[in-house]
Amino acid sequence: MTYAETDLVASMERLAGDDLAALTQEQRDQFDQFHAGGSEAVERLLPSLHLAPGMTVLDVGSGLGGPARQVARGSGCAVVGVDLTPAYVDAARELTRIAGLTEQVSFRCGDIAAFDGAAFDAAYTLHVQMNVEDKKTFFAEIGRRLLPGAHFATFEVCRSDGRQPTPPLPWSLDGTDSFLVTAGELRGTIRSSGFELVEWVDETAWVRQWFEDFGARIAAGGGQAALPALLTDGLTRMLNFAIALDTGVLSVHRGSFVKAP
Ligand SMILES: C[S@@+](CC[C@H](N)C(=O)[O-])C[C@H]1O[C@@H](n2cnc3c(N)ncnc32)[C@H](O)[C@@H]1O
Repeated sequence: MTYAETDLVASMERLAGDDLAALTQEQRDQFDQFHAGGSEAVERLLPSLHLAPGMTVLDVGSGLGGPARQVARGSGCAVVGVDLTPAYVDAARELTRIAGLTEQVSFRCGDIAAFDGAAFDAAYTLHVQMNVEDKKTFFAEIGRRLLPGAHFATFEVCRSDGRQPTPPLPWSLDGTDSFLVTAGELRGTIRSSGFELVEWVDETAWVRQWFEDFGARIAAGGGQAALPALLTDGLTRMLNFAIALDTGVLSVHRGSFVKAP
């Protein structure tokens, strides 16, 4: 099982050598953004959601909740995160309490298919569909929770034709729960699940640069207080991801869609 870490907040405090409440936002961002590109990737995604205060946004596969808190802070919206992994939801709730955002940001534990919420103004998902075999149902389930015309943004990992990356990877320890498709296949699946395409951007070059900067920070001694230190085989998983991006085996694409009427 890939997402098997527990007691994540205690681990973060041990690694950071301080209470989480004492850390700066920048320090917390190192732990709770579970995707390539960190908080900067969320910044790139935000404009396409067209958010305004008072709206309610759905974060599908919310992980440790870093993106949900960032979106809430940046937009004034309420954000609801849904995630399958109980220990991640526990950590997301605790981090949200520490950040003083419990009125604005909440989390539910479970599969998006079993989530009973509806009528969201917007939704996004970052680095989740790689774990989902039936992608058409996954995106259709997201669509069912959105108002007509709602904006939907994605930031996702794709593979090249006929090539597979070497595990362990951030989303899969042994490859058995990795279901990668090409960028064209992913875009087509989202469209056929009830969304109209607004924008599709290949972010691979930008993500490669982000990995270079990230690697330099780790080499300079910043690795202890960052996400890889929290995860089983974390550094190897990140390294394999970075190599697969560098060699053209993987790519990262940002998508923007609206729910079809
Ligand atoms: C790589 S993490 C990304 C977390 C978060 N989106 C982020 O970028 O910080 C993938 C997350 O997707 C969750 N997940 C996978 N399949 C899911 C599903 N069908 N419904 C809800 N969550 C799911 C996992 O539990 C995990 O927390």
